[in-house]
Amino acid sequence: MAPRIALVTTRELAAPDADELLLLPHLPEASLVAWDDPSVDWAAFDVAILRSTWNYHDDVATFLAWARRASSVTRLLNPVATVEWNTDKRYLADLAAAGFPVVPTTFVAPGTEVPDDAVVALDGHLVVKPSVGAGSNGALLFDGDAAGALAHVRALHAQGKVAMLQPYLAEVDTAGETALVYLGGRFSHAARKGAILSREMSFDSGLYAEEEIDPTVPTASEREVGDRLVAALPSLGHPGLAYVRVDLLPTAAGPVVLELELTEPSLFLGLDPDAPSRAAAAFRALL
Ligand SMILES: Nc1ncnc2c1ncn2[C@@H]1O[C@H](COP(=O)(O)OP(=O)(O)O)[C@@H](O)[C@H]1O
Ligand SMILES: [Mg+2]
Repeated sequence: MAPRIALVTTRELAAPDADELLLLPHLPEASLVAWDDPSVDWAAFDVAILRSTWNYHDDVATFLAWARRASSVTRLLNPVATVEWNTDKRYLADLAAAGFPVVPTTFVAPGTEVPDDAVVALDGHLVVKPSVGAGSNGALLFDGDAAGALAHVRALHAQGKVAMLQPYLAEVDTAGETALVYLGGRFSHAARKGAILSREMSFDSGLYAEEEIDPTVPTASEREVGDRLVAALPSLGHPGLAYVRVDLLPTAAGPVVLELELTEPSLFLGLDPDAPSRAAAAFRALL
């Protein structure tokens, strides 16, 4: 009998997402199951693969408690230790310590002040965002507005969140962000994402950016960073990953890691006709 596979989503999504629609025909033994549905018997599945659990950042403690419970009765992918590490962008400091180029970041915990030696002055061109967040939630761009930037730091603290300060890497406005998708440890395909927090957008009245996603061929230096990072993950304590997405921003000094997505990344399976079957094969191979 084929192993039973849960593709894990949330009750908040009424329909499968684009990746799930493409994946399901290649994984007939899989069903969509919501992490926040208390009636689910996770022990009934041989493996539970996190996919569209996009609301986890609203209450990360509850999500992680669920992930620990689920992983005690089934195989959770990616593994719970990886999910615990990866749901808080403070992992960027670990990547920097391991020698990877990352977006320069100052973390400001609730109850502490922005240090004088922050990577970017509050009145500079900067992004302020929460260390636990997804889908650009809580990420704001400031340019010469120290009062506004500080107010956003305080607002994140009031929600119990650690604030992150980063210089705005403006090359994103023209070159975009590159997402490298690895399935079962192997490079699969890449996506180019348009800028989300561009200068013009910040003057719009609360408009959300349309996510603009296109297939792309990564540069040699992008692949070098991504491949080296994926190869290093087992030694950083993260072996056996079903999927990895490395999001890179361009700088004059080369690509830097904006995010390492190991929890619930969109895999942009629609960008490559072979990606859905490749993903299905990679997931099965881990069983
Ligand atoms: N330092 C930065 N420089 C330029 N753009 C940024 C920066 N930080 C975030 N952004 C923009 O905001 C978006 C969301 O930020 P990101 O760090 O990827 O968080 P999320 O987990 O919400 O996706 C990115 O896709 C990018 O367009
Ligand atoms: Mg992102």
